[in-house]
Amino acid sequence: MFAAGANGFCQEVNSHPKASVVLDQGAGEEVISRHIYGHFSEHLGHCIYGGYWVGYDSEIPNTNGIRNDVVEALRKIHIPNLRWPGGCFADEYHWMDGIGTERPKMVNTHWGGVTEDNSFGTHEFMDLCEQLGTEPVICGNVGSGTVKEMSQWVEYLNFDGISPMADLRRTHGREDAWGVKYWGVGNENWGCGGNMTAEFYADQYRRYATFCRNYGENRLFKIAGGANSEDYHWTEILMQNIPHRMMNGLSLHYYTTNWSNQGSATEFGEERYFDVLRRCLQVEKAIDRHMEIMDKHDPEKHVALVFDEWGTWYAVEPGTNPGFLFQQNTMRDALVAGLTLNYLNARCDRVKMANIAQTINVLQALIFTEGDRMLLTPTYHIYDLYKVHHDATLIPLTLESPEYSFGDESLPAISASASMDSSGRIHISLVNIDPTTPIQVSMALQDVQGRKVTGMVLTSPEINSHNTFEDPNRVVPVEFTGAKIKRGELEVTVPSKSVVVLEI
Ligand code: AHR
Repeated sequence: MFAAGANGFCQEVNSHPKASVVLDQGAGEEVISRHIYGHFSEHLGHCIYGGYWVGYDSEIPNTNGIRNDVVEALRKIHIPNLRWPGGCFADEYHWMDGIGTERPKMVNTHWGGVTEDNSFGTHEFMDLCEQLGTEPVICGNVGSGTVKEMSQWVEYLNFDGISPMADLRRTHGREDAWGVKYWGVGNENWGCGGNMTAEFYADQYRRYATFCRNYGENRLFKIAGGANSEDYHWTEILMQNIPHRMMNGLSLHYYTTNWSNQGSATEFGEERYFDVLRRCLQVEKAIDRHMEIMDKHDPEKHVALVFDEWGTWYAVEPGTNPGFLFQQNTMRDALVAGLTLNYLNARCDRVKMANIAQTINVLQALIFTEGDRMLLTPTYHIYDLYKVHHDATLIPLTLESPEYSFGDESLPAISASASMDSSGRIHISLVNIDPTTPIQVSMALQDVQGRKVTGMVLTSPEINSHNTFEDPNRVVPVEFTGAKIKRGELEVTVPSKSVVVLEI
């Protein structure tokens, strides 16, 4: 028996492997912070320059030098926060060089050795956040900066009275304090941020955090620079040596990559496809271990896990500057995003913020720009579909999935996440990583009352399908018609290599 599925693919309904999901709405008490859907933009390649910033005199439509097309695209996905200025760049950035009319130049030693002219600085970033309607997340310089410099940056942004920094801000045209809440205290201080030991960094953190002051009503949310990938010692020492009242969040960076052979973003077969998805699920296991350490030291979960750099990292596109980290983005990346966001939703009791790297033209980007043109990637579309989970209540679920096997290894083919928004609508995101086989998912709805189901699906003809400026709609979401509710059960045929988001 055959039925027309999403995108007009024909799917054999009865012979598909079967998965089952049980939703437990009654148990829902955790809120999925919208900040899990956060972003990261560094002074790296064409993320800031050319990505957001084109300058006041550009012919590309802009508001105060910031591209209008990009602002519109990011507003559409309700971008909840934006982490800036790095990354490794943050620990050699001196914010005072980026204010006023006289802006000294510097060398961006991490990223291509290019000259940074500091034309995009604090005021431009805050204007960008205002245009986007998003929360700024500012990462201070611990590696090559000083406690005084970071403390003054907080005062410059947040103090409303008379003070040296507030007065300086006024001379540069801004009367009112912005009141920035989220502050990273350094970045990757085990590596590009100073090659410190965990013990040394923990002490430095205590000094820096002490002098990042609360002004007025604003309470800072201070994020300690966390571990690299599977460095559990780093998490252990920071949780042990930093008083929890001084640290609201502890970060973690873990990219989905094979460092010894990163491979192409677009030229790959099933072996590489499987390998990337396997690594993505390995990242989840590592995060679980970091959280076990956090639970041991902080069972009441006062300290949030902030997963502030994640995503795929491949070899750069041929002919591009190796320091600019420019890579294409395929259906495979969309699946990585879907899997990771489903996982982070499930851990929302501890994970309160996450930032995919990086928003525009760098690594697992949502947006590409080329001159006056802008292109949305498959990863962008995942963020668009998943915005229904922002600040919604997590509905716990149990899932039994068939395996997707390659060679002698296998992975669960299906991943799922469900939430209820403030108007009582239920949303379910389903990912099928099997590249050729649709999966029949049966979902016992338990207490869920809905009778009507609608949905969208993102899938593609090939595992490496992607959008280009010439063919921008190769991988875009379309309406999904493969779900129905019958006697309290939701039946969904999830196409191969697809992400489906349903609303009940
Ligand atoms: O996102 C690119 C780089 O990856 C960041 O600058 C750094 O923090 C990480 O190593």
